[in-house]
Amino acid sequence: MTRIYFNEVVTRDGFQNEPHFVPTEDKVALIDGLSHCGFAKIEVTSFTSSKAIPMLKDAEAVMGQIERVPGVEYTVLVPNVRGAERALACRAEEWNLVMSTSETHNLANLRMSREQSFAGLREVVAQAQGHAAVNVSLSTCFGCPMEGEVAESEVLRWAGRFADLGVRGLTICDTTGMAHPRQAAAMARALQTRFAELQITFHFHNTRGMGLANVLASVDEGIHRFDASLGGLGGCPYAPGASGNICSEDTIHMLQAMGFDTGIDLQRLLTLARHLPQLVGHEVPSQVAKAGRINDLHPAPPYVEALRQGLTP
Ligand code: COA
Ligand code: ZN
Repeated sequence: MTRIYFNEVVTRDGFQNEPHFVPTEDKVALIDGLSHCGFAKIEVTSFTSSKAIPMLKDAEAVMGQIERVPGVEYTVLVPNVRGAERALACRAEEWNLVMSTSETHNLANLRMSREQSFAGLREVVAQAQGHAAVNVSLSTCFGCPMEGEVAESEVLRWAGRFADLGVRGLTICDTTGMAHPRQAAAMARALQTRFAELQITFHFHNTRGMGLANVLASVDEGIHRFDASLGGLGGCPYAPGASGNICSEDTIHMLQAMGFDTGIDLQRLLTLARHLPQLVGHEVPSQVAKAGRINDLHPAPPYVEALRQGLTP
């Protein structure tokens, strides 16, 4: 059975776009719950400036209070050298560095050019030596909401520069849900041909309803690692009204139904998903949390039995 590995990003990518602060103890309880669901990784929080992302201002407290369950890797987003120092103090096992493959999106999100970002992140990679594994998330790999098309060759060029620095993994992000399945499949082939030794993860948003189709197209091309967010939370400040990351429970449910081994206790995950609207104060896009699993059957209405009796000779 093919194993698919999930990185749960709800408390980072999911929460960073939520308008109302989720209290630290609620974040910790959610992460502890997720830790017992079978995730390979959990992206706990982000060591960015609290002015840029107030929701994650309690990064240290959260990292200090969560249970570290063996077998789960706890990863954090690190935007710069200052963030790396904070991540180091919190004993994060993986640092997730981020920059955009689109110049305009990088300027909008990180307020610097891609070259400036790369120079800073190169220092962070050096800082991580001997302390943490390094993953680099490349944003807008399938299109930029401001520039439009991002050439596959541009994605490969930035991936190559980080591979040369010796990072362990790369996450190829469809930040605003612009990827379509053929594009995802082509990207999967190109990356695996060039970077066979790297841990390659795909990160889709379901902004235009193509998220699960993109997952399947990538799985068919041999991608076995995905980021996903409980309830389908997440979004991007530059695509107003856009829906979030692919939903963890919907994606895992689909892959399990198809016979893939996800390592996830789906029933347990659904219990957390059903509590999420209470935590964030609004409905969430998750479908399986509302409809139930395909094997959660409903009793037939009583008249069905009566009809059946009438039919027997
Ligand atoms: N942790 C805490 N504070 C930080 C920080 C970090 N990692 N990096 C910068 N800061 C603080 C600085 O101390 C400074 O504070 P001050 O105004 O009180 O002096 C302020 O943030 C600005 O610092 P500066 O060095 O000028 O950074 P910047 O304005 O270029 O911001 C980022 C750089 C990346 C830290 C910031 O733009 C950011 O966090 N953006 C959000 C990116 C993000 O996470 N996006 C979503 C994920 S893709
Ligand atoms: Zn994202």
